[in-house]
Amino acid sequence: MSLSDLIPSLRTSLPPQRLCAEIWPASTRHTGHGAISVGGVDLATLAEQHGTPAYVIDEDEVRSHCREYGSAFGNGHVVYAAKALTSRAVLRWVKEEGLGLSVYSEGQLSVAAAVGFPAERIVLHGDAKTPADLQAALDYGVGRVVIESASEVTRLAAIATRKQKVLIRVLPSHDALFDGVAGLPAPNDCDRFGVAAPSTAFDDLVKRIVAQPKLELVGLDCYVGSQISRFGGYERAIQRLVAVAGQLARTSGILVREINIGGGHAAPAVDGESPFAVAAFAGRARAVLGLACERQGVPEPELVVTPGRAVVARAGVALYRVVAVRREPEGTQLVAIDGGLSDNPRPALYGARYTAVLLGRAGTGPAVSSTIVGRHDEAGDVLARSVPLPADLRPGDLLAAPGAGAYHLPLASNYNLVGRPPLIAVRDGAARVVVRRETIDDVLCRDVDLA
Ligand SMILES: Cc1ncc(COP(=O)(O)O)c(C=O)c1O
Repeated sequence: MSLSDLIPSLRTSLPPQRLCAEIWPASTRHTGHGAISVGGVDLATLAEQHGTPAYVIDEDEVRSHCREYGSAFGNGHVVYAAKALTSRAVLRWVKEEGLGLSVYSEGQLSVAAAVGFPAERIVLHGDAKTPADLQAALDYGVGRVVIESASEVTRLAAIATRKQKVLIRVLPSHDALFDGVAGLPAPNDCDRFGVAAPSTAFDDLVKRIVAQPKLELVGLDCYVGSQISRFGGYERAIQRLVAVAGQLARTSGILVREINIGGGHAAPAVDGESPFAVAAFAGRARAVLGLACERQGVPEPELVVTPGRAVVARAGVALYRVVAVRREPEGTQLVAIDGGLSDNPRPALYGARYTAVLLGRAGTGPAVSSTIVGRHDEAGDVLARSVPLPADLRPGDLLAAPGAGAYHLPLASNYNLVGRPPLIAVRDGAARVVVRRETIDDVLCRDVDLA
């Protein structure tokens, strides 16, 4: 027991919790007595008005990352990976900022269509595209389809009614894979993403595409890994793709006009993780591309990137309410919240790390190392560990977790029949719900057995 526990009059408000600039939206402000605002909107008020868990997304933060990428690579060379976060509002911002869009499904394509996303700027990715995905993509007239297997060539050619630009996804060499940080799938799990090159399978794929008058091979695509902050893996991937382009030019006379080196750029969610230096990378990648093309004697293709996380992660803040607090014998605090695995499975899936701060009141007493657990009664349902939270934390308090904009809501489920949280956009002091909370009625209406 601390002195302030014994003598409450000794309690004073803790100084405002430090908000690491790398992981909160740039608009984040301490506004006194534990209040925090994002986009000029008080987060505790949002939690009161809309309930918890809730996800807040800072529109200006998303737009500023789009602009950062656009000015580093050129707008036409940046494709936002919709899998990181898709909603009408988010895709509208991306469209207005002039970026392209990578979709994986008929569903994502339908949201793109709902905001009139220009078809030419859309790329269809996916290692197991269904016939429905392919048909929807061709119906919409997407600019590019990234081919991963021979069977896709046949399917695509069978339904194409006009010339379709395609890229081949090449498996990067092992030394290019996963130059990133902890907790992501092992390289072997990713060997299935793409076709090894050079290889007979690659040559066969090229022949099949060239034999289809409706398909036009314009480039090569690859994906190196996730949460990467160093450049080495990308540089090796560029060299590999250019070597493949050189071989294609020599053996088939095909000129590769674009190479897409994917995304995977790091966006920290805890203090101390490094972000991705976008402008520095663009310069370095172009230099490596130029040299590699010179060495291979091929013209320089367009360099395209497909970031998802780095565009939206930092723009998102998750709001939770504390349901229970237990002080462990060794002095740590176990904090149970009203969300968890169902809105953010990333800690359980990948060992992703998060932090959180008390919201809406200043804590008193010392900060205690705390473990934040979700509501799903699962050993893996742990949002964050070793988080310094005030010793007087109590049920009913609010917590805010930054770095929550990417791969939370898209991976959310209604496990234990808990409704998925809303997405609330903030900007210039105004908030609007852009995806509403999933209700029990939403869940029940899919259960159609009325007998
Ligand atoms: C082909 C491809 N491109 C881009 C991305 C986006 O990755 P990130 O959100 O880490 O930038 C992914 C994610 O899995 C991917 O598979």
